[in-house]
Amino acid sequence: MIKVSGERDQINIAKVYKAGQDHILRFWDELDYDSRKKLLAQIDGIDFQLVTRLAKGLGSDEHKKPGRTLGRAAVVRAPQTPQEHQARRVALEEGEKAIRAGRVALLTVAGGQSTRLGLDRPKGEFPIGPITRKSLFQLFAEKITALRKRYGAQLPWYIMTSEATDSATRAFFERNSYFGMPRSKTVFFKQRMLPAVDRRGKMLMTRKDEIFMSPDGHGGSLLALQESGALAQMEEDGNDILFYFQVDNPLVVVADPAFIGHHLLEGAEVSCKAVRKTLPLEKVGVFASVDGKTVVAEYSDLSEEQQELQDEEGELVFGFGNLAIHLFSVDFLKRVLATEQKLPYHTSFKKTPHIDKNNHLVQPRKPNGYKFETFVFNTLEFSEKTLVVETLRADEFAPVKSTTGADTPENAVRMLTNMWGRWLAACGVHVPLDGKGDVQGVIEISPLFALDQAQLAENVKAGTEFTGQLCLEP
Ligand code: UD1
Repeated sequence: MIKVSGERDQINIAKVYKAGQDHILRFWDELDYDSRKKLLAQIDGIDFQLVTRLAKGLGSDEHKKPGRTLGRAAVVRAPQTPQEHQARRVALEEGEKAIRAGRVALLTVAGGQSTRLGLDRPKGEFPIGPITRKSLFQLFAEKITALRKRYGAQLPWYIMTSEATDSATRAFFERNSYFGMPRSKTVFFKQRMLPAVDRRGKMLMTRKDEIFMSPDGHGGSLLALQESGALAQMEEDGNDILFYFQVDNPLVVVADPAFIGHHLLEGAEVSCKAVRKTLPLEKVGVFASVDGKTVVAEYSDLSEEQQELQDEEGELVFGFGNLAIHLFSVDFLKRVLATEQKLPYHTSFKKTPHIDKNNHLVQPRKPNGYKFETFVFNTLEFSEKTLVVETLRADEFAPVKSTTGADTPENAVRMLTNMWGRWLAACGVHVPLDGKGDVQGVIEISPLFALDQAQLAENVKAGTEFTGQLCLEP
């Protein structure tokens, strides 16, 4: 066993050996003081018992409980009848009251590594503004600033980063003077990281003094909120409702008051937004019911038959996709954190660059490393009352995920332009569409100019014309 001086380091090194991971110390003799310190610090942050447990269960996802029969989940559909429109108006008022009363805090999860987008920066920096090329972070910041002004509320914004995105994210906000927002109400906190292991359960190294680590999944937000003191801060500030959204969706209606109102009127612990799937095999998690509880089943966990299953009316049984927009009661989050039972870990098998025992960099052509993550929607299984509310994709969902496929940046930009085009058309501006129904040209409306169609009607100047490009800023 290698020799280290500090007591804590000695205990940690003993854990490394006990877990059978001593290959991570293979280059110890070649490391200088700083490299040793760095490696010891990384080791200190690893829960070796957890890694051992996860490595033992490789290939058998913890969340896959045998014999679970999935049924259709109850979903409040988007309003169509006069009664449904009236119910929405009542919910809207209730939600606005809660926002004005300062009950709502916001959470963006932005710890992911944007591998599919091939970005070397946090995804929140992605230039999404169709004309201004403003970043996703700026777009959200403008929405939040507009909401704060509208409701006279603080709406604190918690942003979850990870070791992979933290310093770049903070620097981006610094460089942009926090987009004019008060610094005290923008709070960054880091999620934990976990090592990846090979087929034999051995941790992978990226350098002689560095273990390969990746963020522990958005389910890690619960523990990170607690450990960072954010949950305690919410309680102190009187925030009892948390509006959760992902950094990848520029169309999100932040702190949607009608959604908040439905959540409160139903006495829900968790509420989720859903959209109808475009295709049975669309790659989104779907809402389902298990023993009377609403859950999200990942597309990768459903067979093709399940994904395509229809009822007598020809409707998909698992036809509602998860937008990853949620409301959590803060008390609920505290209860989940206090239970013995933890969120299950999901395993993914990915190409993971690493060094071999001769310190040669290996760029695998096939998957070689198992990563472990928990998912925030698995909290639904702890919820006594979950509400799922249908919304319209064109108004609320255009995730930026990948350079190919359905969820590209180009698609998101087109959907933003189309939505702003519909708002303008409703205000009487002529907006020509092409054969596919897309706006012919490009439109951008800053949330600081108009947060929604009603505000646009108040602010747009009479005689505004659209001649292929229109940018409305305050
Ligand atoms: C996710 C959901 C899926 C949903 C879809 C909607 C999962 C497993 N599935 O899919 O049900 O239909 O979004 O767009 O999440 N993140 C972190 N830390 C992490 C991992 C991720 O903050 O450790 C953040 C990312 O920055 C991103 C979000 O979580 O904002 C989603 O992660 P991603 O891996 O892109 O999820 P998807 O598989 O696209």
